[in-house]
Order: sequence, then structure tokens, then C-alpha cells
Amino acid sequence: MLTVGLVGARGHTGKELVAILSRRDDMRLVFASSRAMAGEPVSNLAAQARGDLMFEAMGPEDIAARGADAVILALPNGEAAPYVAAIEAAAPGTILVDLSADYRFDDSWTYGLPELYGRERLKGATRISNPGCYATAGQLCVHPVRDLLAGPAHLFGVSGYSGAGTTPSRKNDVEALKDNLMPYSLTGHMHEREMTRHLGRTVCFTPHVAPFFRGIVVTAQLKFSSQCSREMLKGRFEKAYGGQRLIRLSDTIPEIRDGQNTPGAVVGGWSVDKNDFYAVVVCALDNLLKGAAVQAVQNLALAAGLDEFSGIA
Ligand SMILES: NC(=O)c1ccc[n+]([C@@H]2O[C@H](COP(=O)([O-])OP(=O)(O)OC[C@H]3O[C@@H](n4cnc5c(N)ncnc54)[C@H](OP(=O)(O)O)[C@@H]3O)[C@@H](O)[C@H]2O)c1
Repeated sequence: MLTVGLVGARGHTGKELVAILSRRDDMRLVFASSRAMAGEPVSNLAAQARGDLMFEAMGPEDIAARGADAVILALPNGEAAPYVAAIEAAAPGTILVDLSADYRFDDSWTYGLPELYGRERLKGATRISNPGCYATAGQLCVHPVRDLLAGPAHLFGVSGYSGAGTTPSRKNDVEALKDNLMPYSLTGHMHEREMTRHLGRTVCFTPHVAPFFRGIVVTAQLKFSSQCSREMLKGRFEKAYGGQRLIRLSDTIPEIRDGQNTPGAVVGGWSVDKNDFYAVVVCALDNLLKGAAVQAVQNLALAAGLDEFSGIA
């Protein structure tokens, strides 16, 4: 039984992590930290949680002292470092999975996107950075054809407002979002840099937030240096993802609803212009699941040598 602690458990991704961990019989959630909900049963937020599990307000040292086999950090960007430092000082063998962007650019951490970058490298890993939600969808669109690209991949992304977390902002304000679509971070978004780094190809990415709660669509515009017919394009994706349990290929264009509340991603659409040098591929997924909690549990399970899909699919 792998004991797991969850830091930032009352957030959107924390709630999904509680649900997934509660469905596994080889992992046990041993603590769930929240300052705002301290003292309340975790089942008040996620009905699947054990009745005796309470939210606790815990600082970095408290968390390190609990000695869990693994700790998942589901904190806002920029908050992980004190927790990592405390765990490294007190219990350096702990498996750490960080959902924020804080270690996605750090080579001493393993970036965990199993379908693209492999499962072997996650075995025994103790420092795992979990990819961003848009970054997962975008890389799933680009990776199988990255060697054909003639220039930057251009990605248009739309997310539900749960992607903006629970701290109030204009990007999760349902009044500001009503009948609206908000483009933001027009250049230089964190996930643009993340995709560029891990794909080894320049990505230009513009995110948008929409009035629905969950789900992401990324539409990738890809210019090729050599001809690529629709059959070749589709063949690349079939070869890359054919055996992947969480990735479904679709001839029809994936939409937000195809990804919402599903553990994996839908990739497809396969449109190629008439001279075969330009294609568009679409990915839909749930930002809170394959874009966050599902991927974190896949990564943790692979690191610990456990079943990758238990509790997930
Ligand atoms: N939402 C998504 O779609 C998504 C997808 C992929 C990755 N991520 C990443 O996952 C992380 C969590 O995202 P989220 O959407 O779940 O965030 P969230 O809903 O805003 O939740 C953040 C959690 O962190 C806790 N927290 C906030 N500030 C803290 C601090 N200074 N110290 C300790 N705890 C603090 C909050 O609980 P208390 O305030 O009660 O302590 C809450 O449980 C972020 O880094 C985000 O970038 C999110």
C-alpha cells in the first residue's frame, strides 16, 4: 500500500485527485492539506473520500514529518519550493509529484507525460513534474509530426474556467465570462514555453478562457517541410497512439464535450490543405483529468511500480 499525502487538496485538481486515489486499493490517501477547510471532512468536498479523513492546515515541516511514501503538490504556481525543501531535508526518498509549473523546466525532475516521453524513465523517479493542461493537449497534437514541421506550430487553445483555479480572478469570474470568450497571455504563456522546451520545436500558443467549467480544446496549425497527405498524417497518429489506452483517435473534429469528464484525450480532425504542406489537428481533453489529476496518478503509479490505470479508466 503506497501512502500518499495531498497538499492543496481543496482545489479543483485536489478534488479530482481525492476521487481517483479513493478508487484505488493500492494507494491510501493519508492526509489532505487545506487551510480554508481545515477540520472539515474531505468527503464534504469529494464524496468518494473516506469518512474519517479530515482536511488539515499543514506547513511544509508538518507535511515532511508525516512520512508518507508519496506527496502530491497541487498548489498554485510558485508555492512548491518550501514543501520540496522540507521533504528533501526530512524524507528525501519521498516520491514528489508537482502539478504546478515550478519544476517543468528543471532537468533534475522527470517530466511525466507517459504517452509521449515513455514509461521506463518514470520507474523509480522521485521528483516528477506534471505537465500543464493546455501543454498536454498541445503536445499530443504536435509530437507525432514534430519532425515534419517547417516552422513554429501555431496553437489556439480554449479552456473552461476551472483552469484558472479557485483564487478569484477575472478568468474564473462567471459574470465576466458570461456570453464571453477571453483571450489572455497572447505571447509567452507558460505552456508555450513548456511545449517548446519538451517538444524541441517552437510553439506559438494563445489561450482563451470560456464560460463553461471544465474541458480544453487545442487546435494545432502545422506547416510541413515536405508533403504530408491526410493518410500519412493519420498514419503518424495511429502509429504514435494506437496502443495508448487513454488516447482516442477521431476522424470527426474533437469538441469540448468529447473530452469533458473523460480520463483521456481525443485527438483527430485530420484536415490537410490541397497541396499537403499544411494540416490542422485538434485535441480535446478534461483539464482537471488528463490535463492534471489523471496524469499525476499515472505518473505516481509508474514511479512506484503500480498499475498505471487503476482508479482512472
Ligand atoms: N486547474 C487546472 O485545470 C489545472 C490543470 C493542470 C495543472 N494545474 C496546476 O495545478 C495546481 C493546482 O491548481 P488548482 O486549479 O487545483 O488550484 P486551486 O483550485 O486554486 O487550488 C489551490 C490549492 O492550494 C492551496 N493553496 C493556495 N495557496 C496556498 C499557499 N500559499 N500555501 C499552501 N496552500 C495553498 C489551496 O487551499 P487552501 O487555501 O485551503 O490552503 C487549494 O487547495 C496549480 O499549480 C495549477 O497551475 C491546474
